[in-house]
Amino acid sequence: MASMPNVVDRTENVEIQKFEKVCCILNRFGRRPSGLIPILQAIQHEYQYLPEEVLTYVATSLDVPPARVFGVATFYAHFALEPKGKHVIRVCDGTACHVKQSLPILEALHKTLGTSEKNKTTPDMMFTVETVACLGACGLAPVVVIDEQVHGQVTPQGAVGLINDIRAMEALQKTAVATPAEQPATEESHV
Ligand code: FES
Repeated sequence: MASMPNVVDRTENVEIQKFEKVCCILNRFGRRPSGLIPILQAIQHEYQYLPEEVLTYVATSLDVPPARVFGVATFYAHFALEPKGKHVIRVCDGTACHVKQSLPILEALHKTLGTSEKNKTTPDMMFTVETVACLGACGLAPVVVIDEQVHGQVTPQGAVGLINDIRAMEALQKTAVATPAEQPATEESHV
């Protein structure tokens, strides 16, 4: 019973922090309705997607109807209303990339990650796989963009290799984070 207020406080703090970031973004763009698109872009950059409650908050703050904010958010393919994974993989399926076999790359990625056209994000929220129209780098076709880094002339095996590199990097980071917590116990045992 005594621990309940702490849990509530912590949840409230997370909520306050979330809206503090949104407030900073709104202030940066002068809280003008004309700045709606750059505001949404900045929020998406912060959260990787546009949370529904944040869109409602933006509408109230800009004094515009929520329908307008949601309308803009759903009109542009660039905006995401669903949370995405930590690493976003975009497979270009524009004409040049399609001709150069972008679909086998997509299939290989779905197979290795267990994702699909319908379930684009892995359950651990680590990866999201999307297809996009021409990325403007047709000379490099087929193109895959991972976390804003462009990879050209990618093969299905190459794409899986890139995923494995990220997995290895993530595993290393996990180990690096876990190690310092173990260190003091070892030092203490020498005292
Ligand atoms: S079609 Fe893929 S970069 Fe243009």
